[in-house]
Amino acid sequence: MRILSIDTSCDETAAAVTDGLKIISNVVWSQASLHAKFGGVHPSLAQREHEKRIDFVIENALKKAFPKPPYTIYDILSTKVDGIAVTTGPGLAIALGVGINKAKELAKKYNKSLIPVNHVEAHLLSALAQATKKQKNKKTTFDYLKIKQNNYQEMFPAIGIVASGGTSQVILINNIGDCLILATTIDDALGEALDKGARALGFGYPGGAVLEKIAREGTVNTSVFPVPMLGRENLLRFSYSGLKTALVRKIAELEKTGQLKKSVIQDIAASYQETAFNHFIRITERAIKQTTVNNKLKTVLVGGGVGANVMFRKKLHELAKRNNLNILFPYSKKLYTDNAGMVGVAAYLKLENLKTEKQKGGFSVFSIKHLDKIDRRPDWRI
Ligand code: KG4
Repeated sequence: MRILSIDTSCDETAAAVTDGLKIISNVVWSQASLHAKFGGVHPSLAQREHEKRIDFVIENALKKAFPKPPYTIYDILSTKVDGIAVTTGPGLAIALGVGINKAKELAKKYNKSLIPVNHVEAHLLSALAQATKKQKNKKTTFDYLKIKQNNYQEMFPAIGIVASGGTSQVILINNIGDCLILATTIDDALGEALDKGARALGFGYPGGAVLEKIAREGTVNTSVFPVPMLGRENLLRFSYSGLKTALVRKIAELEKTGQLKKSVIQDIAASYQETAFNHFIRITERAIKQTTVNNKLKTVLVGGGVGANVMFRKKLHELAKRNNLNILFPYSKKLYTDNAGMVGVAAYLKLENLKTEKQKGGFSVFSIKHLDKIDRRPDWRI
């Protein structure tokens, strides 16, 4: 099944074409540099930029997926694509609206079903995406587990981890569409905490990747920052606001005494990142141990932008090993951060499992007669 998928939930205008679990094309136009001067995403600027780029990004995704012979967009959408998927939440309402309106317009024009997708669920399932034959060197989840294509049920029950700029969640995945949030944040998401930390240290937005680079040069001292939620791990809550405040105070103190030189900044960055990751791992491990299905768990699936961090992945690998679980990451770096390929994969998986979903009443595919039922869901929780 071929799906054109669209995501405009934050500051990336993204479109992709997927065929089942395979990602055929995946085009992302990032606005991050435009938002840098605001130190975060400016919603109306995001909306404007999505409107400017969306047609170009969609055309690009379609043409990359079907390069020969030179088809028109009309040909591709009429004859090559079976359905359209769009992120309807969570995200910035006015940004989501751009993708949703475009998806509705195309669904109407080309008489396609429209599949609304939850952005967090798309991150959650991104490790199940498979490379096409053309992407020869890419090993996918299925290769690592030596299981047959589409036998993804063999991985469940799984622990899903979504660590991005907007989400820090540990989710029990019993099966597609049968999820239970085990741990979540009470304030900032992990990526947001890294972004704010980088900003406090004088670096730009988004800061996670910059902080990673600087932290690599520094020496970790875990006694510099307080451990969040110490002694309250059983609540299964992430919290980063105290850590961020401690960082701001530390910087002010060092500035006052004239000690804020390059090597000190590197050490501070390394210790801040380490404390943020250790907190994430500690709560995740507690969530794994506390689940009622602990002895049945098979895999850990990781998604979201922070997964691109080498140190974070190392800590997750160690966590999985300690708990005797397989761990799987998306096959390409591009699939960690926001993209529409993961949206197409999630839409396909939802469609395949529609029966179960329907019983739960949580999901529908909308024919063009019912397009007005699809709306933005900025606070949609899976
Ligand atoms: O998944 P994503 O694109 O956005 C959301 O859906 O929120 O993730 C973006 C987040 C940002 O907070 C960014 O700083 C973080 O992922 N990030 C990283 C790295 N690359 C991106 N954090 C740590 N290390 C990285 N290499």
